[in-house]
Amino acid sequence: MTNNNDLITLQQQAEIRKSIETAITQLFAAEDEGLQYALAAAKEAGLPEIQISPIQGKFLQLLAAACQARKILEIGSLAGYSGIWLARSLPEGGRLITLEVNPHHAGVVRSSFARAGVDNRAEVRVGRALDLLPHLESEAPFDLVFIDADKPPYPQYLDWALRLTRPGSIIVADNCIRRGAALHESNDEATAGLFEYNRRIASNPRLVSLALPMDDDFTDGYAIAVVRS
Ligand code: DHB
Ligand code: MG
Repeated sequence: MTNNNDLITLQQQAEIRKSIETAITQLFAAEDEGLQYALAAAKEAGLPEIQISPIQGKFLQLLAAACQARKILEIGSLAGYSGIWLARSLPEGGRLITLEVNPHHAGVVRSSFARAGVDNRAEVRVGRALDLLPHLESEAPFDLVFIDADKPPYPQYLDWALRLTRPGSIIVADNCIRRGAALHESNDEATAGLFEYNRRIASNPRLVSLALPMDDDFTDGYAIAVVRS
């Protein structure tokens, strides 16, 4: 039964969500000094503040553990924040390769990787991802691929991710919900790229996939695809 006493305002809902997010972050996904430094360095260098949340970072680590990741590929480094979460999930001898088109951003990433102590296992390659990806075939298969770059080519990034992975690998892509826009046809090039990505992973019989709202206001999130055995 619903009555007026059960109704809560949108503002109360938002406050509840925020307090849950804060508590989960503190309990499961606290940032250490290296991650905090990466965020500060990104801000200082004028990079857009569009990093994944700590919960999303911890979720990448959970997925990396689930597929026993030793080799991880990231498409789109931004400031290296997600790269630090990913690199920290690797066992001894593991490797992260992250691709970044912007040389200025790549410089920030390298210094943040060094500060976080992951520069021995995490490497930034500078260039257009679609130019760099063909050169990674000799280093495949990757156990985990994280896509978080320019949106129109997401379907092409998926083609490469499928070529560069193995049965049991996990392919994760950020921003695949976009307030619901990425779940429908669109005339906007970026949104259309995201929808085509979702459509392909949802219908590919080689994959088990799901888009999952999980950013701070539950309006964007990852699309996750596991390559079937
Ligand atoms: C944008 C890109 C992202 O990867 C993101 O997480 C949020 C926003 C953007 O291009 O606006
Ligand atoms: Mg993103």
